[in-house]
Amino acid sequence: MATILSFKLLSLFMIASITQSQIFDVHGMKICKHAYPKHYEVSHTNIEPFHVMKKRSVDQPLRILLKYDDSVYRLDQETFLLINNTILPEAVQFWEKALYVRRVDKVIRLTRKCEDTQIFVKGNVTYCISKCKEKTTCGEVEVPNEHLDACRVCNAAGKDCHVLENSDQGEGVQDADFVFYISAIQTERCNKPSTVAYAAHCQQESSLDRPIAGHANLCPYNISTKKQDFEILLSTVKHEMLHALGFSMSLFAFYRDSNGIPYTPRNEDTGKPVLNENLQTYQWSDKVIKRFERKNWLVKSGFVPRHVDMMVTPNVVREVREYFNCPELEGAELENQGEDGTVLTHWEKRVFENEAMTGAHTQNPIISRITLALMEDTGWYKANYSQASEMKWGKGLGCDFVMKSCKEWISMKADRGMSIHPFCNKVKRDPLQTECTDDRSSVALCNLIRYPNILPKSYQNFDQIKYVESGEEGYYGGSVSLADYCPYIQEFTWKAKDVIVRGSHCRFTENNPKPEKNFALEKYGNESLCFEHSDHMWEESSCKQIRQWQHWGSGCYGYRCENGRLHILVGNYTYRCYHANQEIHIKIIRNEWLHKGAIVCPPCREICAAQFNARGESCKIGDEPPPANFYPRDELKCAGSRVKMNVTLT
Ligand SMILES: *[C@@H]1O[C@H](CO)[C@@H](O)[C@H](O)[C@H]1NC(C)=O
Ligand SMILES: *[C@@H]1O[C@H](CO)[C@@H](O)[C@H](O)[C@H]1NC(C)=O
Ligand SMILES: *[C@@H]1O[C@H](CO)[C@@H](O)[C@H](O)[C@H]1NC(C)=O
Ligand SMILES: *[C@@H]1O[C@H](CO)[C@@H](O)[C@H](O)[C@H]1NC(C)=O
Ligand SMILES: *[C@@H]1O[C@H](CO)[C@@H](O)[C@H](O)[C@H]1NC(C)=O
Ligand SMILES: *[C@@H]1O[C@H](CO)[C@@H](O)[C@H](O)[C@H]1NC(C)=O
Ligand SMILES: *[C@@H]1O[C@H](CO)[C@@H](O)[C@H](O)[C@H]1NC(C)=O
Repeated sequence: MATILSFKLLSLFMIASITQSQIFDVHGMKICKHAYPKHYEVSHTNIEPFHVMKKRSVDQPLRILLKYDDSVYRLDQETFLLINNTILPEAVQFWEKALYVRRVDKVIRLTRKCEDTQIFVKGNVTYCISKCKEKTTCGEVEVPNEHLDACRVCNAAGKDCHVLENSDQGEGVQDADFVFYISAIQTERCNKPSTVAYAAHCQQESSLDRPIAGHANLCPYNISTKKQDFEILLSTVKHEMLHALGFSMSLFAFYRDSNGIPYTPRNEDTGKPVLNENLQTYQWSDKVIKRFERKNWLVKSGFVPRHVDMMVTPNVVREVREYFNCPELEGAELENQGEDGTVLTHWEKRVFENEAMTGAHTQNPIISRITLALMEDTGWYKANYSQASEMKWGKGLGCDFVMKSCKEWISMKADRGMSIHPFCNKVKRDPLQTECTDDRSSVALCNLIRYPNILPKSYQNFDQIKYVESGEEGYYGGSVSLADYCPYIQEFTWKAKDVIVRGSHCRFTENNPKPEKNFALEKYGNESLCFEHSDHMWEESSCKQIRQWQHWGSGCYGYRCENGRLHILVGNYTYRCYHANQEIHIKIIRNEWLHKGAIVCPPCREICAAQFNARGESCKIGDEPPPANFYPRDELKCAGSRVKMNVTLT
């Protein structure tokens, strides 16, 4: 009887069947491949003379004009409304508030493209040989005639340059500093896995080289209108816009210092930096990106040499040094992995995990001060740093964290008995033990997984792993390869039969477990955070049965900061925390089951400092908690013995 009951209950209470490949298949894992425009795809446009533009101060809020291609209007209603009324306005407003430019006083008229690959530039005006292209495109979008300059041509010898007869200049774009052409076409690139949108600039103004026009294509079949995906979609669009505004391999060579002097020397004939034939774009100098050797990069096999490419412009250097608390840090490390379009055009994932300008979205994306500093270092923008979000990943962890391998960091910390966060070393196993991300936004797991093939030596980060057979360590690494295979705590999704049941981000009510499966009485919602459980399993008892859940570790709960203390909300009760690491024992009856478990109080400061500061209050110092009977405790009143059983997640 007991076995049958157990079997039945097992299937009944199985929340999800999770395997390693499923659980880390986070919906947010989107890798950005920014197909940077090749030099011949970008035109320079003459708007105002150098001396006029240069002396204007960089103090006017950026004005972005959106122009839709017809394809946008063909999106289904729901997607169109999401894009038109929420995503695009929010993304545009974000950058308009975050960045200031030298205002453009004249109208913008874009340069027409030429039939011929050869062009002439005279007095910063571009001329085609004999004729211009019928259509000038920016990305997938045809630029409307109203936005175009007249067709200007010379003869094949570069003489007799004039405006072609019957060619008129358009009205131009008024009161804008950047024109963004938006399309929604299911292009070839959209069919590549994990592509939702992509963007790039297409024209730069000729006096200071600032990009003034760009395009973004949103892949219509890959846009999810689900609420849980909103944050990632918005962040993706902001991220892509930034590639067009300045963070691009095609623009590094055009960056200027605060006096408007180019960081990269110009070729006297062309006025442009030298071309890198290989990349088909202009080669930047090492005042922008510089390569450094890390002679002693520790991996499983010992020390290996490794080079790192660093963004070394002044504002970025100041920000990263301060952020990581490492005064000798050379700059901000750029991504060294991934294909063209991922490598070098993003921040290194190992170092900047959830910064939105890393090459892959994993969780909780934010735009940090460091990205805004880079925008200032283009020489085209000033930033309003109050628009930056606070980053927590690796903050203040010092030079060991940013300048050494994660293997060395993990070993060093573990040897001293210290936390190895933000990295981790736990392989998923039964019983499943979850943790909280460092920012407490999400219930999380260590993303250490077994790869089918042994990892390259330079990415083998473990000598030994608990519960992994010796000799097998080389197959294990973090599921995010761009992070140099360093494993870290990450949010995940619960899946059953390959269908996503729910996510683990505390903020979304959609992630609430079904009442009959909510053994730890979690509550997901916009005001919830992740709190750790004690070391014991949660237990549910009815008058007939006791069930133990073979899965615990952390959960999402509401909280309040009141009277100088943190309060955690579980079920309908409020539990006051008196000191850090206090274990609060929970006994609550819900739906005729008594739920028993414990939650660990984090330090008051960590959760409440900001709220208290804003209200002129502060966290009281830790104090002895009152006896257990001070807290609410439900009791189950029933007679007779009960069947005890374990509920496992397989
Ligand atoms: C699209 O957005 C624009 C600007 O925000 C707005 O004026 C317009 O009404 C929107 N269109 C629809 C159909 O909602
Ligand atoms: C063209 O632009 C460069 C800077 O990009 C400037 O030095 C030069 O004076 C400009 N020439 C003319 C004729 O405006
Ligand atoms: C995007 O949509 C295309 C076409 O429906 C599909 O083949 C592709 O797998 C989708 N990619 C993602 C990441 O959803
Ligand atoms: C920067 O942004 C904040 C918040 O939006 C705003 O209050 C402040 O006025 C802005 N600063 C400047 C100089 O515009
Ligand atoms: C949470 O949602 C409620 C209701 O939707 C709203 O009133 C409240 O301001 C939100 N709180 C935060 C912190 O966003
Ligand atoms: C407890 O909360 C539930 C919803 O979570 C509500 O339906 C119920 O009325 C509450 N009970 C008490 C005693 O407040
Ligand atoms: C439940 O699991 C624990 C170990 O996690 C084990 O010691 C115990 O015997 C199990 N109980 C039953 C009834 O299977």
